[in-house]
Amino acid sequence: MASLIVYFSHTGENIVDGNREIIHKGFTEIVAEKIQKITGGALIGLKPVEEYPYGYEECNKRARKEYEENILPAIANLPASIDAYDIIYIGFPLWYRSYPRIIASFLKQYSFVGKVVKPFCTNEEGSFGFMELELRGAVKGAIVKEGLAIRGYDAEKSDEVVANWVAK
Ligand SMILES: Cc1cc2nc3c(=O)[nH]c(=O)nc-3n(C[C@H](O)[C@H](O)[C@H](O)COP(=O)(O)O)c2cc1C
Repeated sequence: MASLIVYFSHTGENIVDGNREIIHKGFTEIVAEKIQKITGGALIGLKPVEEYPYGYEECNKRARKEYEENILPAIANLPASIDAYDIIYIGFPLWYRSYPRIIASFLKQYSFVGKVVKPFCTNEEGSFGFMELELRGAVKGAIVKEGLAIRGYDAEKSDEVVANWVAK
């Protein structure tokens, strides 16, 4: 079974466990790489054509606008096809209790019929928000497995929880 791990992760300023921090490697990227190591799958970190701002307030402002106006930001490194993959891991930070709109852009590009989709997210509050429900609507015809939600600051030490989830 061929796996694709596709994710979006933001570097720059973030609020982590209530404190403002500069993030050089995104939390979701850390988890995505752990999944890649376990599965041996292909790894794609989605890049927006227009980078998200470095600063927390500016990033929030753009994220909120995209969310409220249902914008689909263009992706710079969109794969031509996902036909070769049976299992698609889709990862992102929770933004406004959902997935960042760049993930919505990605999901719009392909048919997911017959594929297994495994969503994972990192977040601050430890929940999925309503992203699972939204995701199910966006990948019609796919078998959507139970998602994995990890607090961003737990990403580094999530090996066991990630391995158990991948094996499910
Ligand atoms: C624009 C924005 C919106 C966010 N909204 C939420 C949210 O609704 N719920 C939550 O738990 N965390 C929220 N967060 C926190 C991120 O989900 C969390 O820090 C995540 O682990 C960051 O992952 P990354 O480093 O891969 O980008 C938000 C962060 C940003 C920048």
